[in-house]
Amino acid sequence: MIRLPGLIDSHVHVREPGQTHKEDWDTATQSALAGGVTMLLAMPNTKPPIFDASTLDLALGAAKEKARCDYAQFIGAGPDNAEVAASLADKTAGLKMYLDSTFGELRLDDMSLWMQHFANFPKDMPIVLHSESRTMGAGILFASIHDRPVHIAHISLKEEVLLIKAARERGIKVTCEVCPHHLFLSKDDIPVISHGHPGRGEVRPRLATKEDVEALWQNLDVIDCFATDHAPHTLAEKDSENPPPGFPGVETILPLLLTAVSEGRLTINHVLEKMVANPRRIFHLPEQPETWVEVDENAEYEIKASEMHSRCGWSPFEGWKVRGKVRRVVLRGKTAFEDGKILVEAGYGRNVRESEN
Ligand code: NCD
Ligand code: ZN
Repeated sequence: MIRLPGLIDSHVHVREPGQTHKEDWDTATQSALAGGVTMLLAMPNTKPPIFDASTLDLALGAAKEKARCDYAQFIGAGPDNAEVAASLADKTAGLKMYLDSTFGELRLDDMSLWMQHFANFPKDMPIVLHSESRTMGAGILFASIHDRPVHIAHISLKEEVLLIKAARERGIKVTCEVCPHHLFLSKDDIPVISHGHPGRGEVRPRLATKEDVEALWQNLDVIDCFATDHAPHTLAEKDSENPPPGFPGVETILPLLLTAVSEGRLTINHVLEKMVANPRRIFHLPEQPETWVEVDENAEYEIKASEMHSRCGWSPFEGWKVRGKVRRVVLRGKTAFEDGKILVEAGYGRNVRESEN
């Protein structure tokens, strides 16, 4: 048995408010705890999107009542909320800017809209960009012009990891995350994931080529964080005419990474650096006292969505044999998960942006 600190997942779609048939604060945080994740940062592309004081209250109200692990909530950048978002910054995980199209309504096409957010949002608070390929190049230029940090969500391409590396060598403050599905899957795996339903292979950014995947593994030192982009949609939705993009992931990230550790492709230090130390530093997150994860590093098992806690009911990693099982999770002194069971009540989770007194 090994003992790890509680993991931080900096990219989770909780789906509440508005799409609780996919997931909610209760099921998302149960799934997180079962995966060894004791703190998650929630994305703002809900229904309605989180973009002002009243929508932020909606999300935080639901979280306060239902969350079982600790959390913070991102605010989304819209066409006319730059000042409001900046004024709420210290209540949020940071600002999320959607510069490419994906699931949800938050998208900023015009670069003059980006400028207002870069100028207004407090410089010591993180801005996270959904920006793929050349859009990412533009986002890094904004970081340079405004001399402020940006964090690039879910990079997946060789050209992206190489540009981030080059930008950092010039002193530009850019950090990035990679998702397990972009490390462990390529577009060649789509037929296996799909089982004849092409929608199941849809995710943004799309699964990339083997060469892209290889470039991520070759440049692990450039990758600051592993984050899931846990994006649950039901199977009925994935198999529909108009399938929404996104994979669930918060419950499978640790076993997948530990399997890679057992195969010598990663070290446990990589996991701790990219899921604890770096997200804590980049997003200014507090330490969680008396919090740890007990893992049986030799236990082998098969990934089965039917045993998971997410409401979406499927996994792109169904049937994968993994090595490394979460046995027990202790969160702020209480056993939160043990042998497959969630043991803390809804509402135990704490908003880490709220002071304790
Ligand atoms: C995400 C979702 O479903 O909210 N989908 C996805 O494919 N990653 C949106 C996003 O993160 O872009
Ligand atoms: Zn996302």
